[in-house]
Amino acid sequence: MERRFFDATWKRTVYCGEVGSRHEGTEVCLNGWLRRRRDLGGIIFIELWDHTGIVQIVFNPEEQEAIHDLAGELRNEYVLAVRGVVRARPAGTENSSIPTGFHEVAVSDFLLLSPSRALPFDMNDVDKVDENLRLRYRYLDLRRPRLQQNLRVRHRIALFTRNFLSNEGFLEVETPMLTKSTPEGARDYLVPSRVNPGMFYALPQSPQIFKQILMVGGCDRYYQIVKCFRDEDLRADRQPEFTQIDIEMSFITEEDIQSLMEKFMQGLFKDILGEELLLPFPRMTWREAMESYGSDKPDLRVSAKLVDLHDVFADSGMEAFRTLLTEGGSVRGLPFIGGAALSRKEFADLEARAKALGAAGLAVFQVKEGTLKGPLVKFLDEAAQKRLLVAGQIGEGDALLVVADKDWRKACGILGTLRLELARERNLVEEGWRFLWVTEFPLLERDEEENRWVAVHHPFTSPNMEDLGLLESDPGNVRSRAYDMVLNGNEVGGGSIRIHDSEVQQKLFSALAFTPQDAEERFGFLLDALRSGTPPHGGIAFGLDRLAMLLCGGRSIRDVMAFPKTQKAQCLMSGAPGPVEDRQLAELHVTRALSSKE
Ligand code: AMO
Repeated sequence: MERRFFDATWKRTVYCGEVGSRHEGTEVCLNGWLRRRRDLGGIIFIELWDHTGIVQIVFNPEEQEAIHDLAGELRNEYVLAVRGVVRARPAGTENSSIPTGFHEVAVSDFLLLSPSRALPFDMNDVDKVDENLRLRYRYLDLRRPRLQQNLRVRHRIALFTRNFLSNEGFLEVETPMLTKSTPEGARDYLVPSRVNPGMFYALPQSPQIFKQILMVGGCDRYYQIVKCFRDEDLRADRQPEFTQIDIEMSFITEEDIQSLMEKFMQGLFKDILGEELLLPFPRMTWREAMESYGSDKPDLRVSAKLVDLHDVFADSGMEAFRTLLTEGGSVRGLPFIGGAALSRKEFADLEARAKALGAAGLAVFQVKEGTLKGPLVKFLDEAAQKRLLVAGQIGEGDALLVVADKDWRKACGILGTLRLELARERNLVEEGWRFLWVTEFPLLERDEEENRWVAVHHPFTSPNMEDLGLLESDPGNVRSRAYDMVLNGNEVGGGSIRIHDSEVQQKLFSALAFTPQDAEERFGFLLDALRSGTPPHGGIAFGLDRLAMLLCGGRSIRDVMAFPKTQKAQCLMSGAPGPVEDRQLAELHVTRALSSKE
């Protein structure tokens, strides 16, 4: 038989998922993958798949004997071009769960374009396959409708972003990938320079310095959809290379950028999900977020709030708490509505969890039959008990979980984690999209290991000018002009108003224990730029992957990336990272350290 090839006559006239009433009685040509084949007493049915969906194809021996026989050889995931006439399915055989389920294509001819080897898993049951196996065969995994859908949502997010920002006067400018280290708090990926022996580029953790220099260069409004690289411990919402929607603006204050970015989110959610977001988003200082929710990214879908129990215990008979409070420590509580019904064992389990999070213990109060119960009640007189009920905001049937610690952040953080875990376990997380801005982050935090102050955001974030005087005397209490956009407990974006004065920048470098030489060597070009006419400026960067994950209803950013890496930063499909030859290393002036494997 004459060998036939794919040519213009075999090009699709319609996508599989779009076959419908308007094609009834006409001949169509389809291109796609065979997803399932069933032989039913002579008649062969196959499902043909492309990214739009599946359609049923029928091979009837009475109509097309030769073709029918060939169809018997077809296997799953073979690539086919199929020609045939669309007709309504016989009454009673319709499938209302798919859009094409009322029609089928009666084959008149087909061409096998490419066979498939026996695959490592059943394509009709991919959801049950171990993720590592799917990552190894990502090209098969990508044929899943869910991943196809996610990639398309991601594309629409990028498209909306470009249109929105371009209409608002932003210019997309590319910045280098081979650059100098930018301190965003993670380790750098380094690239040795062949032509500069012993020298290394760093892949950008973000384009932070470049975007600021674009402002010095008069660009006014910059954005970029850009890859960033961070060598850090990975989690479900972190990858070693990820994408930011990176933004910077000149001559603005916090309010300008926040209101514009809210408008951006409003448009995006309308475009992608048809959701109407109400503006403005609430603003909350970092201090309030930590005190009320035990988190710098509070999930407002959970209504419970933490309470301060200082006034209950400050002069109570509970000596350990009293002493802790006089020494500046903190006693915090989490009201647990309905918690009085929990058994002793369930509370022991909660205490074990609190201890695993670093608590010295978890004190529990319960209100049962009008009385306050719990091991610590005996230390509280009647007035203190009343204060506990009021401050703890609990009543009949409720419980109060209490953590005391010398560090208020730690006490709140532990209760904040329990708050979320309990809400998830008891289905108390409301539906919906709860955005907020968290503002006034501290500028600096103590790195106890290195015994020095480090920037909470990055070293170019402006201090709140009212606190400038504290930079030397009380660095931990300097508020910054940084803000995060938080959505349902996820940090989707973070940014700040920057330092645009070289003297303030130098002051900050010295607070961070950079010697003047260090600062000059690493950031001299930035300091020079800041001395060369710098507009006040600020910006933000959104995690595109995180946004896409939330908009797709996914749990992991791996589900919205075409080729993600594993927790060990490996690409299981390509095998990266891989070994290199000594010859390549020699060219790069790099010598190999002996590892335990050698
Ligand atoms: P920041 O470090 O807060 O700010 O990053 C901005 C946003 O990027 C996302 N993100 C990540 N997403 C996936 N994997 C990661 N490893 C990862 N790390 C961060 C988060 C985060 O909110 N240059 C500053 C921005 C600025 O100041 O304008 C910066 O990079 O959603």
